[in-house]
Amino acid sequence: MKKIGIVTPGGDAPGMNTAIGTVLRLCRNETGQLIGINDGYSGLIKEDYFNFSNTRSDTIMGISGTILHSARMPSFKQEKVVKEAAENLLKEKIEGLIVIGGDGSFKGAMALNKHLEVPIVGIPASIDNDIYGTDETIGFDTACNTALEAINKIKDTAISFERIFVVEVMGRKRGFLTLEVGIVSGADAILIPEVESPITEIVKGLKKERKKGQTDAIIVMAEGITERDKITSIIEEKTKCSTRKSALGYIQRGGAPTRRSRMLAIEFASHAYELIKTNPTRPTMVGLDGEEIITIDLEQSVSGYKEIDLENYKLHRLLSNIY
Ligand code: F6P
Repeated sequence: MKKIGIVTPGGDAPGMNTAIGTVLRLCRNETGQLIGINDGYSGLIKEDYFNFSNTRSDTIMGISGTILHSARMPSFKQEKVVKEAAENLLKEKIEGLIVIGGDGSFKGAMALNKHLEVPIVGIPASIDNDIYGTDETIGFDTACNTALEAINKIKDTAISFERIFVVEVMGRKRGFLTLEVGIVSGADAILIPEVESPITEIVKGLKKERKKGQTDAIIVMAEGITERDKITSIIEEKTKCSTRKSALGYIQRGGAPTRRSRMLAIEFASHAYELIKTNPTRPTMVGLDGEEIITIDLEQSVSGYKEIDLENYKLHRLLSNIY
């Protein structure tokens, strides 16, 4: 295969550039050509491409974000827009496409596939870790560490002011990031969309702990919790303790990728590169199953629902003092 296209259409995740740099290096070593598509799928419509000739793969591999830029593109749900993108891809003589991203990026790839015969391989990258078919996504580990560091800092002020803090963590509609960060930070309570929020139980537990002398608390809450703005005031009202909400926000998407995010990106990208050269007839995705890098059908991934590990939620409850 001579010319491979690469695109990052979704939310950026630390390690995306590591994956791009890995494919770039492998292409160069085999005298293939890598062409970047700028600004997600909109680059295909604008015919806006990234020329890698002056790019050092080793330099970009440690930088967060995506050098190809990203853009949400709601119009990519329209058949005529997808068709135009596919035509431009063929015009550019791209013989294979690597899509780095999450669920939305992969749905776009499936739509493109209806108008194309070039092989498509997906590399799962998202801080949300919500993609079916892989135990972990690129960027998840870095986001966990960023959120953990932030929560440690919030804990300092929580202790000083004897306050309850409700810390909001990203994750779109899912609670993977929140659950992981909640457990490792030793949170008193975790609120995720996958489990009904036990507010009454939490309030009771917080009051009991305060009587025993623990005058601060951290509740880690997923952004996907409905009515999350009300939760802080309900807790404050019912516990009669000073309570603050702190949304960690976009800091979770930045920062240099951790060793784990980089290693996962390198393994996924090299597997994806080998895979695309075999000309798979159906769009595929690389993934992690335990310690093993695997390949799954992309359609299966986009139509699947990744279950959260409820055993870990139970573990959190066992570790917390308030239940
Ligand atoms: O999917 C990654 C993510 O950061 C989610 O955690 C968050 O809900 C969403 O993207 C934010 O999207 P946008 O960049 O469009 O604001």
